[in-house]
Amino acid sequence: MLIFLTLCIIYTSYFYFSYFTRENPLPGPVPLPIIGNILDKGFDDFVDYTERMRKKYGDMFEIYFGQNRYIMLSKFEYMQNMFDYSLNSKYLRRIPYFPGLEELNIAGKGIALNHNVNVWKYNRHFISRALLTPSFSKSAVIWTQNLVEEMMGFWEDGSNNDGCFETDIVEWCHRFTTDSITHFTTGMRIHAIEAHYNELLASQNRKPKVPSKNDLRDASRFFKSIKTFIVGIYFFIIVPPLVRKCLPILGNASKYHLKNRDWLYDFVDKIIKQRRKEIEYTPRNEPLRFDMLTSMITANTDRDICEIKMVDEEHTQPMNDEIIRGILWETMVGGIDTTANMFSFIVYYLAYHPEVLKRLRVELDAFFEKMGDRRLDLESLSDLIYTDAIIKEAFRIFTPAPYTARNSTAEDIVAGRVWPEGTQYIINIHGVNHNEDYWDEPEKFNPDRYLDMKISSPHIIFGGGRRTLSYRT
Ligand code: HEM
Repeated sequence: MLIFLTLCIIYTSYFYFSYFTRENPLPGPVPLPIIGNILDKGFDDFVDYTERMRKKYGDMFEIYFGQNRYIMLSKFEYMQNMFDYSLNSKYLRRIPYFPGLEELNIAGKGIALNHNVNVWKYNRHFISRALLTPSFSKSAVIWTQNLVEEMMGFWEDGSNNDGCFETDIVEWCHRFTTDSITHFTTGMRIHAIEAHYNELLASQNRKPKVPSKNDLRDASRFFKSIKTFIVGIYFFIIVPPLVRKCLPILGNASKYHLKNRDWLYDFVDKIIKQRRKEIEYTPRNEPLRFDMLTSMITANTDRDICEIKMVDEEHTQPMNDEIIRGILWETMVGGIDTTANMFSFIVYYLAYHPEVLKRLRVELDAFFEKMGDRRLDLESLSDLIYTDAIIKEAFRIFTPAPYTARNSTAEDIVAGRVWPEGTQYIINIHGVNHNEDYWDEPEKFNPDRYLDMKISSPHIIFGGGRRTLSYRT
């Protein structure tokens, strides 16, 4: 006991000595050893918490998660170096190496959480090549439309005699994006929407009018597994390995997340193997369908489906399954919740602003009348000016990805101070999009602000610079 107390005193003294002698002290709540500022958060959700801190400490403050110091930036001017598009940028790394991510078998893999800049560049090259092609954008519009029609078919099927179907739209949005993202990444259908519909009816002792022809066994499990995996990533980043190993309750949580990871990886591996086989058995004179997985499997082979070919010496070899898996699951994880939350919030804001909904209906009615029997395409979407303003305003006020991060790879000047290599920044996207210095009445939902072509306020949606989201078309 005495040894334990002595160790605690030494550790606490060391912690506060380091804290009070830190480089470039900034305003911010005083942290506690080991747990940092987590108690300050209280029961607030994280965005409310950081807004509270921004109002109290300003547009540049510091915050501790565990023992790590993070510099939170909420002013666009402070992050301009980080949004540099050069490949020599000092901000090509988002996060440093975390041992927890190694345990999850994520460290140095994929794109978004990859701390290894060279591996990130390699992976990102393949993915950009697959997604930034005209065929991809065209097919994305077509299959999104097909999926919406399929989902509306279920609503019709489940409606009562008055033609009404009362349901929780948020769950449908998440199922919709699960189906659309898995389709566009793998070309395969998971049928998360249909599985949800069947489960919903079963809970009311009902059956669909037309029985399913699809295998729905894995659909809901996959959907839940993705959600659990996201929680697992945060858990393994935030909770230090020693704490996880010492506290049995956290040890069990680690085991649960690792088991979930194994299931998800196995699921993704099966999809990759199946697609490899299908490609192998497709006669050479038959074209292969266009999706991200096929593009990655065929890259640098004589069956390459991409219009854009590899032109540099670093990307001459075909991709192996492990690299493909790292990119695939991350794309699924990155895309499902962000887009689903976005759709849900657009519906939410429209419900609370009937005048906006009315104007939206007028624009859409006129648009579809002009379209006649034609299917939607990318070009015609640009006629939807008010719809576009609603989406932008919803993105601003709700901000589906409220933060991103940068970990500097060299010393740099930020907000007039010199910061050492390895400084960890959080780019407070929500904070910029709600900053009173840029926006009039930032809390007000007002799509009209985007109809003014002169709008110059910095509106961040997909990040910026080399690590910005490449799928934003
Ligand atoms: C509402 C939709 C979305 C929003 C608002 C959003 C937002 C963001 C933001 C803010 C970043 C960080 C960029 C930076 O650090 O500068 C990011 C990165 C990323 N997003 Fe999204 N995202 C969305 C949809 C998607 C979709 C649909 C996918 C996949 C299909 C996806 C996959 C990724 C990946 C892999 C990265 C990492 C890029 C890199 O590090 O090079 N996101 N996203």
